[in-house]
Amino acid sequence: MSTLLQINASLAGANGQSSRLADRFVTDWIAQHPAGHVVKRDLAADPVPHLTAERFQAFFANPDARTEEQRAVSEYSDELIAELRSAETIVFAVPMYNFSVPSTLRAYFDHIARAGVTFRYTANGPEGLLKGKKAYVFITRGGIYSNGIDTQTPYLKQFLGFLGITDVQFVYAEGLSMGDDVRQQSLNAAHGLIEELSHAA
Ligand SMILES: Cc1cc2nc3c(=O)[nH]c(=O)nc-3n(C[C@H](O)[C@H](O)[C@H](O)COP(=O)(O)O)c2cc1C
Repeated sequence: MSTLLQINASLAGANGQSSRLADRFVTDWIAQHPAGHVVKRDLAADPVPHLTAERFQAFFANPDARTEEQRAVSEYSDELIAELRSAETIVFAVPMYNFSVPSTLRAYFDHIARAGVTFRYTANGPEGLLKGKKAYVFITRGGIYSNGIDTQTPYLKQFLGFLGITDVQFVYAEGLSMGDDVRQQSLNAAHGLIEELSHAA
């Protein structure tokens, strides 16, 4: 059975445009994979805590010597990683907030990037340990950045690639705060691309 993990990050929840684009893709994916399994994680409704020194140290503490708090933190991170590991297809719904990805997504990433678990250092440099997955990233923005400085795409490519997730398809809906015409045109184009992608997924 194939599993799809959908990770949303919009403050608007299911009404966010990024969530809607991702939902559209997932609905099409379910139609193509009737026996497939979908797991949803909403980082706005259920945020991963900010990474603190205590939380970071918990990852490295000797498992036999962990305090109660450290055990809870490492188990929480382990669960996030297990959820990610079990999915062959990963869908990220990513609004642009303050020229970057939502801080909730950063906090999530801080809990899934674990040396020796999701990546390792080798003599040839770092090696991602989450291989063989396909990721789809649905990015929504009030303005237009694709022809200028886009901080989100290179960051997401680099981070996911670091974990071994190198097959990443991006879908953008930009200019969503630039009037009805631009907004509608942009959403229509994104939906059109999703339709094409979901047939190939
Ligand atoms: C807190 C916040 C910060 C934002 N910062 C930016 C920004 O830096 N650049 C931009 O183009 N749009 C920005 N926007 C607009 C959102 O990217 C846009 O509304 C998008 O549709 C949000 O995705 P969503 O509908 O999935 O929540 C911001 C919106 C919010 C709520």
